[in-house]
Amino acid sequence: MTDAPHPPTGSAAQPAASRFLLVSCQPGAEEGLFLTQQLMLPQLMRAAWRRGAVTFRMPEGMALPDASGLPFARSSALSLGQVTGSSVHELATAAAATRSTPHHLHVWQRAAPPRRKPQEAASADVLPAAVELHATVAAMLGCPPASDGSDAAAGSIASKGEDVLSIVIDAPGRAWVGWHTAASPSSCWPGGFYPGRLPEDAVSRAWLKLDEAVAVFEVPVRAGQRACELGAAPGGASQRLLSLGLTVVGIDPADIDPRVAEHPRFEHWQMRARDVRLRQLRGFDWLVTDMNIDPSSTMDALQRVATAPGTSLQGIIATLKLPQWKRAADLPAWLDRFRSWGFTPTARQLSSGGRELCVVARRPS
Ligand SMILES: C[S@@+](CC[C@H](N)C(=O)[O-])C[C@H]1O[C@@H](n2cnc3c(N)ncnc32)[C@H](O)[C@@H]1O
Repeated sequence: MTDAPHPPTGSAAQPAASRFLLVSCQPGAEEGLFLTQQLMLPQLMRAAWRRGAVTFRMPEGMALPDASGLPFARSSALSLGQVTGSSVHELATAAAATRSTPHHLHVWQRAAPPRRKPQEAASADVLPAAVELHATVAAMLGCPPASDGSDAAAGSIASKGEDVLSIVIDAPGRAWVGWHTAASPSSCWPGGFYPGRLPEDAVSRAWLKLDEAVAVFEVPVRAGQRACELGAAPGGASQRLLSLGLTVVGIDPADIDPRVAEHPRFEHWQMRARDVRLRQLRGFDWLVTDMNIDPSSTMDALQRVATAPGTSLQGIIATLKLPQWKRAADLPAWLDRFRSWGFTPTARQLSSGGRELCVVARRPS
């Protein structure tokens, strides 16, 4: 699996001297991670990697890169190296020795499968190891106990500016250790997993994706605003927007769940996106899309709305489905298109999403 030697072991490593970046991603998303890294952060050199965890050598003097350069990174940290131990206590002692006083400790298994149902525990066989290691190291370092906000990683949610020690379990008795200062919402969450939950009455998983997008990109959606969603059926994302107090028009030839369709602030235009007249698309604050079509077609549909005469859009929340991982190589061109319409875009693979990217593009204020 690896194509280069492991970074130096933890005992000798200190953040200031670290030359490696420790990144985690959705298991299977490594191809997307590497393609976009080569295009957007080519100064990084791929080092050791496994399914779900990758290290990059950083050039001399390079600071921890901004997450926008690594859209498939669920979390990133300065690598403090690998630690080994035959027992949880030994592993915990080695991990604890890499750094003395983090505010928070985050522990997860590098290839923990994505959660199908966010209410359920992630995986009975991997999470207990993370929970046990977290409890042992947290007690040694005086870190808070794991909250139950996320069930894919063990840890407590950090605030911006707080220091986090991360332990990524690689195999029994072996782990990578990383260090970062929380600066963005996802860097506060254990493993970068969104700690939000899908409500029992959500009509689709898109409820949680929209919820995560708003949280992770800090999208300023407000009650009273108007949103238009292309590809709205059965209605999960619209349902979340309605619960935030927005008025929503959902455009989709398919049926909308009655719990959304009958909402007094929801209107269903049962048609394809391209069949809507341009003048009907005026007066929206937000354009949302999650269509199960080729991402180039999604981009064309977005362009038609975003560049329509008289548009007053503040921003776009777009899901771009990737039919193959190699389509991630098109991301820089897609981002250029958002810029050419007058928006500032940022892309990220959401922890609640599948083989797709979420792009949030804001009109500069
Ligand atoms: C992944 S689902 C959308 C989930 C939805 N956002 C939710 O919150 O439940 C994809 C949807 O895209 C719709 N779709 C595909 N092509 C479309 C088009 N050209 N115009 C409008 N909707 C389209 C499909 O009918 C389907 O309902």
